[in-house]
Amino acid sequence: MKGYVKIFTYGCQMNDLDSQKMYSILSREGWEPTESLKEADLIILNTCSVRQKAYEKALSNIGRLRPYKKRKPSLIIAVTGCIAQQKGSDIISRMPHVDIVLGTHQLHRICTAVEEKREENGPVVDTRFGECIPSLKIVPHQAFMVPTHRAYINIMQGCNNYCSYCIVPYVRGREISRDHFGIVEEARRHADSGVREIFLLGQNVNSYSGGISFPELLRCINDIGGIERIRFTTSHPKDMSDDLIACFGSLEKLCNHIHLPFQSGSDRVLRLMNRQYTRETYLELIEKLRQARPDIAFSADVIVGFPGEDDEAYRQTLELIREVRFDLLYSFRYSIRPGTEAASLEDSVAPEEKSLRLRELQSVQRAITLEINRSRVGLTYPVLVDGVSVRNAEQVYGRTTQNTIVNFTGPHRLIGRTVDVRITRANPNSLTGETAEYEPGHTRLPIQV
Ligand code: SAH
Ligand code: SF4
Ligand code: F3S
Repeated sequence: MKGYVKIFTYGCQMNDLDSQKMYSILSREGWEPTESLKEADLIILNTCSVRQKAYEKALSNIGRLRPYKKRKPSLIIAVTGCIAQQKGSDIISRMPHVDIVLGTHQLHRICTAVEEKREENGPVVDTRFGECIPSLKIVPHQAFMVPTHRAYINIMQGCNNYCSYCIVPYVRGREISRDHFGIVEEARRHADSGVREIFLLGQNVNSYSGGISFPELLRCINDIGGIERIRFTTSHPKDMSDDLIACFGSLEKLCNHIHLPFQSGSDRVLRLMNRQYTRETYLELIEKLRQARPDIAFSADVIVGFPGEDDEAYRQTLELIREVRFDLLYSFRYSIRPGTEAASLEDSVAPEEKSLRLRELQSVQRAITLEINRSRVGLTYPVLVDGVSVRNAEQVYGRTTQNTIVNFTGPHRLIGRTVDVRITRANPNSLTGETAEYEPGHTRLPIQV
């Protein structure tokens, strides 16, 4: 045994998967995960720099580790992910208690970097860009997958879109796709070990180019026995092809949910953001997707307070939200990212105004989500059970194919199985339901889909 390791993860699903991968390769080399910082011999902070808040949170948490290092000088502290890529050795200049800085393309080198640090004693910094395929190809061990029946697979990394506000192309690099043979093989192996849901990940999956198109890749995965559900994220509206839309009509395992960020409802702001679509083409996509799969659920990302967003532009964003009726909306206050194109625009919306807009927008969305959830009461949905409810150990929770969370009374052995659940109550962000078989006191087996 080499020691105990703890990884802190910030940011998106890509980073969650990267952390699962690091735990997996470290455990293969003899490292054991721990939740105790006092016990840890290696602490990794897998960071995100998409907004200033995420950036500051990670930096302050790195700072908080200083006393642990003082108490135990052999402790190794590593910073990985997007801040590591962006700041490189500056992190060590500012915080000399950091030992390792590993960029987004060098994740597969975590074990080597730790060995190098132990042997050489000096700091190890590697933020080289280029060959990221070895990192993308690491298959996480099932023990570190949460939940173990859902496998996230990186199909590509990086982004060529350069939305004017966004740091991601600078910290993840240009788009690189993995070969499709490796992806399908990985999905097959997961299916053989009991995985029920495949979740394909990339910054812009629609422009996947690993030998076949993204819709073709979906069709290959749809053919794998044992897989019940397929999901993917993130899609860029400008790359939503008719072929991909048609998949929602033809692939029975493809879940009836899509995350399709729109960012703004104003054409003028969309142009300033360099999003390369208009409000009208976005709404057309929504319509086409609804035609392909009438019960499809939408989620999206939106930014308020982008430079030049006047009252009219903001109103158009609200209107778009009311028109589409998203199930779920991730809304953000615009945050200047140094080095991006928009950083040179005047941050014209006052901070109080940004907050006001965000609050109003979120309350509009809350009402829509609740209305949608209420319309589901009385209906029955297949729910893939993910785990035990946080608030009530007699309840389990899972997701419908539309990606809504459902809590219901049932034994823990249902985790990883699909059960038909009748919805009895709508909550602001979830549903409550019941299964005839699992009324308290009942012991019959559930319906297995
Ligand atoms: N590739 C994905 C994810 C990008 S980051 C995509 O294109 O959707 C996730 C979300 O963070 C973005 O969709 C955007 O809404 C938000 N975001 C990115 N940069 C931001 C910034 N500078 N300020 C506020 N929100 C930002
Ligand atoms: Fe950022 Fe735009 Fe690329 Fe998404 S598509 S990662 S928002 S640059
Ligand atoms: Fe953050 Fe990097 Fe993801 S900046 S959102 S962790 S790609």
